[in-house]
Amino acid sequence: MPTNRKYLEWSLPLARPLAASTRVASDPATCRFKRNTIIPIFRSLTPPIPVHTFPPLLVQKPSPKGSSVTPLLEGNTCVVGLQWGDEGKGKIVDFLTENAEVVVRYCGGANAGHTVRIGKEKYATHLLPVGIFRTGVINLIGNGVVLDPAVLLREVDEVTGRGISITPETLKISYKAHLVMPYHMAEDAAREGAAGEKGIGTTKRGIGPTYADKMQRATAIRVADLQHEEQLKERIHRIVDERNKVLKVLYDAPPLDWQEIFETYRGYGKRMLPFVDDVGYLLQQYSKAGKRIVFEGAHAVLLDIDHGTYPYVTSSSCSALGLYTGSGAPPKTVQNFYGIMKAYSTRVGGGPFPTEQANDTGNYIRERGNEYGTTTRRPRRCGWFDAMAVKYSVDLCGVTHIALTLLDVLSGLDQLQICTGYKMRGQKLDYFRADMDTLAEVEPIYETLPGWKADISNCRKWDELPVEAQTYVKRLETLVGAPIKMVSVGAERSATIMR
Ligand code: GDP
Ligand code: IMO
Ligand code: MG
Repeated sequence: MPTNRKYLEWSLPLARPLAASTRVASDPATCRFKRNTIIPIFRSLTPPIPVHTFPPLLVQKPSPKGSSVTPLLEGNTCVVGLQWGDEGKGKIVDFLTENAEVVVRYCGGANAGHTVRIGKEKYATHLLPVGIFRTGVINLIGNGVVLDPAVLLREVDEVTGRGISITPETLKISYKAHLVMPYHMAEDAAREGAAGEKGIGTTKRGIGPTYADKMQRATAIRVADLQHEEQLKERIHRIVDERNKVLKVLYDAPPLDWQEIFETYRGYGKRMLPFVDDVGYLLQQYSKAGKRIVFEGAHAVLLDIDHGTYPYVTSSSCSALGLYTGSGAPPKTVQNFYGIMKAYSTRVGGGPFPTEQANDTGNYIRERGNEYGTTTRRPRRCGWFDAMAVKYSVDLCGVTHIALTLLDVLSGLDQLQICTGYKMRGQKLDYFRADMDTLAEVEPIYETLPGWKADISNCRKWDELPVEAQTYVKRLETLVGAPIKMVSVGAERSATIMR
């Protein structure tokens, strides 16, 4: 195969991880690279680009980092939110990662906000997979993610500034991921501003416009494009010229300077390229090598672009179904689908929300649950648990396990209501329809259960929970139709009960 400049360009920033991969790891539990693993050098000059930096084919599966607390799930696991986001996916991915070697983000962008509490330390990530907080875990950002380099690099700086190491061996970014550009954010903000009350209530992180460009193709920029400066320059010039016209005509917005954008992204490229790799290929190899993989879903089923409560959704395939296209892993890779649901409902931004409690109950939940957006700090809308909606998500994703989170937040309420179904124009609906006009009209049918007064945040065993809390959990399990295997009673890692 002839070598040309393109291939060489890719190989250069990737030379470091290749060299590092031959070193001897001292801790067998975290050992990722086998001693004396030889990578034929011609691989770094051979298409397809980019060159794979990882030599996993010869590596024995490390012995599981067995834990007395975390269940050792057989096979690989996808973690997916079953409501409208912020279910505590960050906490549960971190928890499950104790027994995993790889964590993958496969959808969305910096609109996600995942919180992890480790002892007294609190971390919130928007783009970094939360496996970054565990030693020996490889973190992948898949092609389904839209990447804002400014946010990613800031996050990397913040996390490393707090003493956590991030290297090209522990973080790998798909060369196929699309880039969020300043004009995407400008368009998102301008569109939302112009729509006023009728807006979607986006995070203004440029998510929708970036995915729109991905589908448009001619106006998209991918991580791989950072490699080729001349072409990048030409692309940015052309696209910004076009965007400025649109922004001016539609929103009377000031023009953006294409040269400044080019220089900024060129700088991002220099920092990011050592981390760039072929995530789909790597996943296939990790899977063959028996590495345990956790897919970190962002957002949630009801925010999914196809299956969510459209148009009040985000722009990615953020149900479990999106993990294959968003990561490049073959379907047989995943055996466990861990659905995460909070013990009540919340949603941020606009859109129908049948069980919303815009009253004292909603306020009680918001304050006890600190229900303010991790990304935008907006107060989250709060309401009763909607079993009709969650059952839809469970069935869509083929959920095999459930983690019920934030149960502690409900302590102190005299009674709890669960929405078991909907009525519309006097008729009971048989199933959940993810349709805005239907949801705006439905009337929830509630079942009332007794609450409990005790603080349950120190419970660590199922039997320690008040009987009313146990009854509530069991009723939710029956209604949504999947086993609740984990109950979370606090933000900290250890505040978790296994069933
Ligand atoms: P994600 O987007 O699904 O990862 O969720 P977020 O991190 O945006 O929001 C969940 C919030 O609840 C975070 O502040 C977590 O620290 C917190 N949290 C997670 N699980 C629990 C729990 O069981 N109890 C309480 N009180 N807080 C929790
Ligand atoms: P995590 O991963 C909660 C919501 C926004 C808005 C809609 C569209 O933390 O659970 P966008 O900026 O994506 O175009 O906004 O989707 N949204 C989320 N709400 N948690 C999230 O992510 C969300 N990601 C997007 O609030 O209503
Ligand atoms: Mg969140």
